Amino acid sequence: MKSTCYARIIEHIEIAPDMYKMVLSAEEIVKSAKVGQFVNIHCKYPGSLLPRPISICEIDPEFNTLTLVYAVLGKGTKALSQMMVGEEVEMIGPLGNGFMIPEDAKDHIVIGGGIGTPPLLELVKQLKGNIEVYLGFRCHPILVKTFEKYGAKVYVATEDGSVGTKGNVMDILKERKHKADMIYSCGPKSMLWAVAKWAAEQEIKAQVSMEERMACGIGACVGCTCKTKKKQDQDWQNKRVCKDGPVFWSDEVIW
Ligand code: FES
Repeated sequence: MKSTCYARIIEHIEIAPDMYKMVLSAEEIVKSAKVGQFVNIHCKYPGSLLPRPISICEIDPEFNTLTLVYAVLGKGTKALSQMMVGEEVEMIGPLGNGFMIPEDAKDHIVIGGGIGTPPLLELVKQLKGNIEVYLGFRCHPILVKTFEKYGAKVYVATEDGSVGTKGNVMDILKERKHKADMIYSCGPKSMLWAVAKWAAEQEIKAQVSMEERMACGIGACVGCTCKTKKKQDQDWQNKRVCKDGPVFWSDEVIW
């Protein structure tokens, strides 16, 4: 159940150029947050109107904290990055439908691209069995050690080759040729499309967390739709990324 709250910042650090980790005390949201969901944050700057959707990176029910990792992409996130420990952030959440973890899945492939990586961390914490994580970045990998801390084997690709394999995440995935029971993915649409195509070829079910520009974030404005298949007649229908997603089955999306 979503709630509006003022969450106190208890940690806020820059973990890579223009990428920040913020830990918030947010008991109400922590109580119902699920892996793959997001929160809408009101970033305070002159003329700000719309909240910014930021995916949940970690949920800690023991300390009632949420961790968010976000990139500075405009005025809103710039203003957010300047907030200090001890200040309060107005937010609504948890929002959206997250990842589904099948009980019988024992072997998992997790694929993240750039700022699509953070929501996969809580997922890896909750998965059981063999977990292989494939991460692609332009040049500054984030959270790699934390994924390893949670028991995943991590493979990294960077476009400039400064860390891991030179290339993109699909290059390492195809080279490894690992089979799994389920694929989970979050990142830019071009990467998700490639993941969906590869998953279909390998006959592995895949879930993709879609990135779309959002306005209301709660399903009211229909400003964030993606085309999906209808079950029976193979016609298409629009679904709202913020409310029906952000996570969809890869074979449900019309790419
Ligand atoms: Fe308004 Fe999704 S952002 S419906």
